[in-house]
Amino acid sequence: MIKDKMSWQESTKNKMLRLELPTDPRWVDIASISLEAILVDHAYCEQKAASSCISLIIKYPEFDEMVDVLTPVVAEEWQHFDAVMQQIRKRGYKFGFPRKDNYVVQLQSFLKKGGSRSDQLTELLLMNALIEARSCERFKLLWKNLKDKELCDFYHELMISEAGHYVNFIQLAKKYKDPEMVELRWQEWLEHEKEVLKDLEIRGDRMH
Ligand SMILES: [Fe+2]
Ligand SMILES: [Fe+2]
Repeated sequence: MIKDKMSWQESTKNKMLRLELPTDPRWVDIASISLEAILVDHAYCEQKAASSCISLIIKYPEFDEMVDVLTPVVAEEWQHFDAVMQQIRKRGYKFGFPRKDNYVVQLQSFLKKGGSRSDQLTELLLMNALIEARSCERFKLLWKNLKDKELCDFYHELMISEAGHYVNFIQLAKKYKDPEMVELRWQEWLEHEKEVLKDLEIRGDRMH
């Protein structure tokens, strides 16, 4: 973990997530009545988060601090996967195959090609930061709105953890590229994500 990791309270106070478009409130209503599907989709989000960190580590091994910060994040994301699986099992829900993740596919299409290795890494770090920020926002909605007390506590805990990951990714990006350039590019990412979200069908069986 980066030492000056910002707490969830500080990050919300400073409006650190900075998402341009809040989630449509209808999403949490339909998600709360599709718990089996949302939990299965969530399990795969955690798997993808772990896989994505592993992939950054093996594609960019020369970036020492990134490797050292993301190695424990892989373990945390896999622990989240395990925790979601336990929620699925204890409710007698069925696990299944992953679904196509249109949200992530559309974010990937915005990745800038070319540039130096640190430019490419920075792009991936910002995309990961964005996914963490949106997950964090959605976990907050689940925490605040679900009727199931155990799941509320579960999502509260995960929300705090993903907020920490979001800060990790942004701080790493600012380490490997001029922070002002990162800010400018981050704004472009936020605007792109707003457009993606606007056009995405609201589904209760998808975390995004
Ligand atoms: Fe996670
Ligand atoms: Fe995360």
